[in-house]
Amino acid sequence: MALYNDKVMEHFMNPHNVGQIEDADGIGTYGSPVCGDMMQMSIKVDENDKITDAKFKTFGCGSAIASSSMATDMIIGMSVEEALELSNKKIIEELGGLPAVKIHCSVLAEHAIKAAIYDYAQKHGKIYKGLEGFD
Ligand code: FES
Ligand code: FES
Repeated sequence: MALYNDKVMEHFMNPHNVGQIEDADGIGTYGSPVCGDMMQMSIKVDENDKITDAKFKTFGCGSAIASSSMATDMIIGMSVEEALELSNKKIIEELGGLPAVKIHCSVLAEHAIKAAIYDYAQKHGKIYKGLEGFD
């Protein structure tokens, strides 16, 4: 059986939303305590608290790339509060599954999104639930 399904491979080979938003409203970095890989996430948020763009860069493995590609696709169009509820489980579900040893790579994507939202919240004097532990 192949380790990675077609959807994961597709996002790994042709990742969406790679890079950094130049005039980002929030930018955050998160390092995985499991493997030491890093991810940077930048987001653009409009006046209604809606995420209009998201981009990521990672020093991480293929699963981290596929997870962030999927995660950025998912949060574009969401409100900040909806994006804060995006768990790594939902990212994995949307990818159609990840091998057990690669679950933490999707956690990296979830936390990088939270780190970017934390930065946005700080800069705009906003308070959201779900950002505990990011200060
Ligand atoms: Fe090698 Fe994450 S530890 S890619
Ligand atoms: Fe750590 Fe994938 S091995 S992010």
